[in-house]
This record gives sequence, C-alpha cells and structure tokens, in this order.
Amino acid sequence: MQVFTEPILAALARQTSVPVASLKLERPRDAKQGDLAFPCFVLAKELKKAPPLLAQELAAALAGALPGITAVASGPYINFRIERGLLAREITGQIARDGQRYGGSSEGAGKTIVIDYSSPNIAKPMHIGHIRSTIIGAALVRIFRALEYRVVGINHIGDWGAQFGGLVVALRRWKGEVDLEADPVLGLLDLYQRSKKAVEEDEAFKAEAIAAYQELESGREGEVRELWRWVTEVSLRGFNATYRRLGIQHELVRGESWYEPFLAPALERVKAAGVTEVSRGALIVALGEVDKGLKETPCLLQQTNGTTLYATRDLAALFSRWEEFQFERCLYVVGGEQKLHFRQLKGVLARMGLAWEARVEHVDFGLLLGRGRVKIASRKRGEVLVLDDLIDEVVDEALGTIEAKNPELASKREVADAVGLGALVFNDLKRERIKDVIFDKAEILSFEGDTGPYVQYTHARLASILRKAEASGDAGLSATPDWSALENAGEVLVALGRLPDVVRSAAARAEPSELSQYLLALARDVSTWVSSPDNRVLGSPAGVAAARLALVRAAKLVLGNGLRLLGITAPEEM
Ligand code: ARG
Repeated sequence: MQVFTEPILAALARQTSVPVASLKLERPRDAKQGDLAFPCFVLAKELKKAPPLLAQELAAALAGALPGITAVASGPYINFRIERGLLAREITGQIARDGQRYGGSSEGAGKTIVIDYSSPNIAKPMHIGHIRSTIIGAALVRIFRALEYRVVGINHIGDWGAQFGGLVVALRRWKGEVDLEADPVLGLLDLYQRSKKAVEEDEAFKAEAIAAYQELESGREGEVRELWRWVTEVSLRGFNATYRRLGIQHELVRGESWYEPFLAPALERVKAAGVTEVSRGALIVALGEVDKGLKETPCLLQQTNGTTLYATRDLAALFSRWEEFQFERCLYVVGGEQKLHFRQLKGVLARMGLAWEARVEHVDFGLLLGRGRVKIASRKRGEVLVLDDLIDEVVDEALGTIEAKNPELASKREVADAVGLGALVFNDLKRERIKDVIFDKAEILSFEGDTGPYVQYTHARLASILRKAEASGDAGLSATPDWSALENAGEVLVALGRLPDVVRSAAARAEPSELSQYLLALARDVSTWVSSPDNRVLGSPAGVAAARLALVRAAKLVLGNGLRLLGITAPEEM
C-alpha cells in the first residue's frame, strides 16, 4: 500500500508540520469505513487539540489534495478511501512489476541478522523442540532475507559436554551390540541411553566416563577424539538428510565444540569486567542487580573442577558472533524451557555494560503436542519421535488424499511432498509461536480448514484459472483492463497491497504467524471473490476479463510468495 500511504503521510506532514516518520496509518477496524485510517490521538495531544476536531480540520484540508483518495473524518479518525479503479491498477501493477520479489523491501540492506536455529544434539534424533526451532528459524531466515538483511543462520549443534564421556565408554563396550549401519542415529541413541543409565548405576563406568570426557576436553588426538568425531559425522549426516527435505541450509554449522578456543578468553573477559565471583569454588556472575527475577539464579560459568558449561559456551559464542558480525539482531530460536538460560546470558551482558545486549533475543516457542495434548508417538518407533518419520507419515497421508481427490494429476508424488510438508510447516507457524501446537494429521492436511493445504489449494485454483485462460485464448489476455470490473474487490486489493507491511512486521516481531494468518485470511477472501458468479473470469467481456485476470494473477503471486517465505511450496496443481 506504499503507493498510497506515502502521499497520504506526506500530505498530513505538510498540513501539520510534523515529520513524516512520526506519523502512522492503520487499518480501519471496519473495512467498510475506508482502506486506511489515521488515528489523531497522538498528534492531537501534541497540537493541544481535541482529536475529533483535529480529524475534521485535517480531513477538510486534505479535500482535493490527494488525487483519487478521499478523506473523511469519523470521530478521532480520518478514514481514507481509494478510488477503486486507481486501487486496482496500482496494486495489480506493482505486484506484476515486482513478481517474485513482491513482499520484500530493502530495509535490511547493509545489516546482519544472526539466527541460531535447529541446533540439535548429536547422538540423538532431533526432538520436538528442534523440529519447531527448525521450522520457525527457517521461516525467519527467509523473511529477513526478503528484506535484504544479510542473514547468517547458525546451527549450534550440541556436541560437547560431560555426556559424551559416557557415550565414548558405551561405544567401547557395546558398539557390536547395536545396529549402527542401518540407522546410525537410532543406534547411537540406544547407546546414549544405556550410557546414561550406566553412569548412574555403575561406579567404574562413571569413572571411565569422566576420564574420557577429560581426555576429550584436553584436545588431544587419539581414540576418544576419533570416536567423538565419528559420532558427530554420523549425526550430522542424519540431520542433513532432513534439512534437505525441508529445503534448509545453515550458513554455518558450528557446534559447541567449535567455540572451545574461545572459552578461556571469554572467561577472562568476564572476569576483567569485574562481574564474577567465586561461590563454593565455582565461578558465577550474580544477576540480581540487573534483573530482579534472577536474584536466586546467578549464571554459573565454571565448575569447581574447572569444566565449563552450556552457558559458558553460549557466552563465548555470543562474544565471537558479535565480533564477527556486528549483528543488528541475534535471534535464538529455542523452546520456552530455556528461558532462564537466555535471560541469564543477557544478564551477564547487561552486568558487563555491553550496549548490544538489547540486540540479543530469545525467540521462544511452545510445545508440539499430539491430539488431546499428549506426547506425539511415532508410528514406527513409539516414544522416540524422528522428524523424518513424521514427514513420511504426513506425506503418505497427503498422497492418499490426492489420489482420492485428483487421481488424474500427473506429478502426484511431488505434490504430495509439497502438501505434506506444507501441512506440517504451516501448522507450526500458524499461531503465535509462544502457543503450543497440536499435531493432528487429518486436521492439518484438510484442504478446507485453516491449513497450509488450504492456502496451497487456493493458489492452485488461481493457477488453474490462468491456465484455462491461456488454453482457451481468452479475450481478456490481450485486452485493456476495465478496472470498474473490480469495484467489488476493494478489500481483496487492499489485502494484496499489505503483503510488504506484513512481512516487515513479521520480521520485526520475529513472528511468522503474522504472515500465515494473513495468508489464511487472504485465501478466504480471494476464494469467496472468485467463487461468486458475479465475478466470472473466463468468457467475460474482454476488458472485464482482463481486469479480473489481473486480480487472479496478483493474488496467485501473493499467496505463492507468502507460502515460499514460510518455507512452503506453492503447487500449480493439486
Ligand atoms: N542444543 C541445544 C538443545 O538441544 C539447543 C541450542 C540452542 N542454541 C544455543 N545457542 N544455545 O537444547
């Protein structure tokens, strides 16, 4: 809507001698009132006037000043209505010009966003938290990139910590007992679980595990390092296969171990800042003075025996990321259960007086649960949920639906992949991320509900109209549009014009659901519009058909662009 908001804001600024940057237009609460609204409250206060009076004065002053736009005062608001022909021409025109780039902008040019996402732990399949992190993080990567930020996606693999001592010992003892060939990640998981139990129950095992971890931490080459390295490689291979299916690629894969050389300097830096203390032999940073809620929970950086912790490695990583990228924002897409951890990290930065602390954000999210809010069980493996299995299940189911609905479709497999993944991904991004997500296979795959497949289906339906127009050589293809045919499509057009604002806001709040909700509402409005017999596209008088085709083309582009930003394919047919 920038083509309209810009002149309106400029005119308001001129009338009031207030800088444009301090003025903002809104969506009117009721679309019948207008296409854009200006709330007068803030400005009225500044100008020491009653808001309704200011609204009236400004509306009167703007009369005739904005070609094609009328301004009407309504209480403390000014409502703007754009002449329908102008609206249709400008919006469809801009979308056609921008094409696949429509929705983006260059607000991020020259700025870097670091996004830490997915970040699973080696020797285990990704758990539910990693699944959500992967999907939300990947959507954010795409959204920020569309705004021309330089995005650095980092996979902060959990490849370090005392538990790897136990795993090494388990490998020594039981490697032959599990199948590490067919499905190495699950074989490793088995060993990992056995090692955890053994550490608790068997003193000799525990001692050997501690020694193995010390050996690992020493950095020496040898058997322990080699085993650990092998585990890392096997696990990464498994994760990469999943990422490939989701079309995801991190810019950097840096496990916790990567930051080893940065640990000592990081500790020195915190100490030099004078914010550490020794408490019962351990090195801590007290945080109560910067965050009252953390009075009882200082950040523990080094244990009595000298070993470092998850927080130490994250702090070292953060310093290194700041030095390397001077990021605009550094987002941690990690589940809500790590709230305390990230609050503590920020607390340490705050105590050190580092101004960039404000740029570090924990992008947290709720749980992924099965129907009835129970843990999701997998068809194949019960308790252990493997993301790949989940994808397979949904894709299989999608294939069944497509076979039933559209048996003639040529590329069924491909479409089932798109729809299954689309269902899974959209479900994860549909509501505010902080809310829990319910995974109900039938529901998320429905072509009619608030689902990814519904948006995809709407996209495919528009594609089909365009295909038919081409095939029949519809007169609308070459005619000059008669924009009056879109008189009743004002709301759809305004919605189409909003994509760039939605993308900007989704990025600002690191909230992909803004985009998914927008797409659902748009898909609904567009479906209603094209379904109406009054809006027949094909076979209408040439000028009318041309205008309607322009709308269909624009809506298809917007739905497709929006889906792709979420990480979802937009099929032409389904
Ligand atoms: N590997 C961690 C886990 O599974 C998540 C890491 C998130 N990123 C970070 N920089 N702490 O819980």
